[in-house]
Amino acid sequence: MKVLVHIDDAEQWRDALARRLPEAEVITGSAPAEQRRQADYLAAWKPPEALLREPEALKGIVNLGAGVDALLNNPGLPEGVPIVKLRDAGMASLIGDYVRYGVLHFQRDFDRYRRQQHAGEWREHAVVDKADWPVGVLGLGAIGARVANMVAADGFPVHGWSRSEKALEGITCHHGDDGLDDLLARVRTLVLLLPDTRATRQIIDARALARLPEGASLINPGRGTLIDEAALLEALGDGDSEGRLRGALLDAFPEEPLPEASPLWVHPRVWVTPHMAGPTPLGDALDQVAEALRAFEAGEPQATVDPAAGY
Ligand code: GLV
Repeated sequence: MKVLVHIDDAEQWRDALARRLPEAEVITGSAPAEQRRQADYLAAWKPPEALLREPEALKGIVNLGAGVDALLNNPGLPEGVPIVKLRDAGMASLIGDYVRYGVLHFQRDFDRYRRQQHAGEWREHAVVDKADWPVGVLGLGAIGARVANMVAADGFPVHGWSRSEKALEGITCHHGDDGLDDLLARVRTLVLLLPDTRATRQIIDARALARLPEGASLINPGRGTLIDEAALLEALGDGDSEGRLRGALLDAFPEEPLPEASPLWVHPRVWVTPHMAGPTPLGDALDQVAEALRAFEAGEPQATVDPAAGY
C-alpha cells in the first residue's frame, strides 16, 4: 500500500510510520506528483484542497486529529472515501490536564488573585469546597468522557451532556435539549468538548449563557464555532466588574490564529491559548494510524466518520 502523509512535520511522521508499517510505502507531499496520484491512503491533518484532489483512487483517509470539521469542510474531499479519525491517542489526557488547570484556576480564585496582585491588594478568599463546585462537560466522546472522568477523580461533581443518551459511571449524564438546559443551570464551570457540526454551532449562545448560574466560568478546548462570541463578550461584561460570566479560558476560535483585532486578546477576564490543549502525541497516534491502515487493507475498516453527522 502507498500512504501519503500530510501534516506540519510530515517527514518525521513519514519515517516513523514507515518503521511501524514496513509493508507500506510512505510518502509526503514532496514526493513526485506521479507517486502522489497513486496513493492508496491519505493520513493527513488539514490537507490543502489541491493535495486532497491528487490521489486518483483513494481507498481510505486517516484524519490525524480528533476533529474532522476541517476535512469535511474541504471542497477537495472525494465523495464516498471512508474516513477514520484518531480516537484519543494521548490527546485526552493532555486536554484533561488543561481542563483541570482551568477548573482549579477559577475554583481557587487565581483569576481574582491575579487582579488583586495588579492592585497590590492582599486579601484572602474563602475556598469553595470542590463538592460544591459542579463542573459540566458538553460532549462525551472519547475525549469528553476521559476528561469528565479526570475532573471527577479530582473530587468535583461532574455533569456530562451528549445529544443522545449515554451512561458513564461516576458522572451525572444528561442528554437532549432539556438535558442541556438542566445541566447549564447547575454547573459553576462549563467545559466544551463537542465536535463542530451543524447541530453544535453556537450551541453556547446568549440563551445558554443566561442559564448558567451567576459567576460561572467557561473552558473551551473544543471548537471555537461552539460559542456565539458576541454573546460571550456580553456575558463577560466590561472587565472592570465581574459580569454574569466570571471568566473564560479559550483554546479554540472560529478563525485561527485568533485575529489581531479580536477583543478576546485583551479582555481582562479571558485567557487565550493558541489551540495547544491537545496536541497529538506522535507515538500513540502512529500506533492508531498503523492499526487503521492495516484494518483498511484487511477490508475491515474501523468505525468510520459519518459525514452527514459531522463526526
Ligand atoms: C485538534 O483540534 C483535533 O481535532 O485533533
